[in-house]
Amino acid sequence: MVSIPFTGRVAIVTGGASGIGAALVRALASAGASVVIADLDEAGGRAVGRETGAETAVVDVTDARAVAGLIDRVVSEHGALDLMFNNAGIAIAGTVDELTLDHWDRVIDVNLRGVVHGVHAAYPVMLRQGSGHIVNTASLAGLLPGPGLAPYAAVKHAVVGLSLSLRAEAAGHGVMVSAVCPGFIDTPLLDRVNPGLPQTEAGANAAALVRTLGKLYQPDLLARDVLRGVARNQALIVAPASARVAWRMARYAPSFTMRTIISGIRKRERARAAAGGAAATDGAAGGAGRDAAEVTEDTTASA
Ligand SMILES: NC(=O)c1ccc[n+]([C@@H]2O[C@H](COP(=O)([O-])OP(=O)(O)OC[C@H]3O[C@@H](n4cnc5c(N)ncnc54)[C@H](O)[C@@H]3O)[C@@H](O)[C@H]2O)c1
Repeated sequence: MVSIPFTGRVAIVTGGASGIGAALVRALASAGASVVIADLDEAGGRAVGRETGAETAVVDVTDARAVAGLIDRVVSEHGALDLMFNNAGIAIAGTVDELTLDHWDRVIDVNLRGVVHGVHAAYPVMLRQGSGHIVNTASLAGLLPGPGLAPYAAVKHAVVGLSLSLRAEAAGHGVMVSAVCPGFIDTPLLDRVNPGLPQTEAGANAAALVRTLGKLYQPDLLARDVLRGVARNQALIVAPASARVAWRMARYAPSFTMRTIISGIRKRERARAAAGGAAATDGAAGGAGRDAAEVTEDTTASA
């Protein structure tokens, strides 16, 4: 466990009923924090709450008033808000030509506006306190090109931009801001791509495609990395190690990274055509995942 005293800290985790959020709730609770889970999923939130002692609130992060209301209540009941994890999110996958504006609107509403709502309500509280840490869950797709994931990647890049900009603004006021950029993590998200929206081939096959990459990183390990990154006040918390390799390569060799990604897509299109696939619309989430993996492998191989 990390050395920062999370004991007695008051934390809200949006999306805390499942996956990465639930793992953050477990890690924070076992480090002694008072945790409030904010999630749409009442039953899931209660289950994690029973297990960890966390409070639960049914909140839709797309509803700015509901998010602000929760933060007001937590501050008045606990006397402070020390940690705001804006983590709730959904996955959208498909090529730009097949995705509808509803796909775009939904991912902007949940994954970007949801974070904005949390920031907008929590930051003034932390400014008044002169302390606090906002931790926004972005993605490795917020640092790299994400073919087949364009709306998701666009929004995650926005979350990274928001977080780094606010980090600079907040630095003189005692408030810290970090963005978490995980590679693929083994959570139910991968099995519910394009939720409530027209399904795409990539969305339907995302979990299977991603799992062809091998054993996925587990959410409890990511939560450990995140708390360590928060304790160190890292601007970007990128994990696992393969994601850090891909990120470094995209920063230091962007043209090579782009060429590697494009050649990966072409290779799969040719394989599909050879296998009798009609249109070469490759598996988006898996495609992007394999691109990142290929980038990683290439980098590792050349290291
Ligand atoms: N799993 C991955 O591979 C991965 C990789 C990079 C980033 N992420 C990001 O991590 C975050 C958590 O994802 P996860 O993998 O744990 O997914 P998950 O599906 O396991 O959990 C997401 C949680 O968010 C909640 N949620 C969704 N919409 C909501 C809303 N409008 N209001 C409140 N709660 C809502 C869901 O009910 C769920 O409990 C997301 O922002 C996701 O984009 C995930």
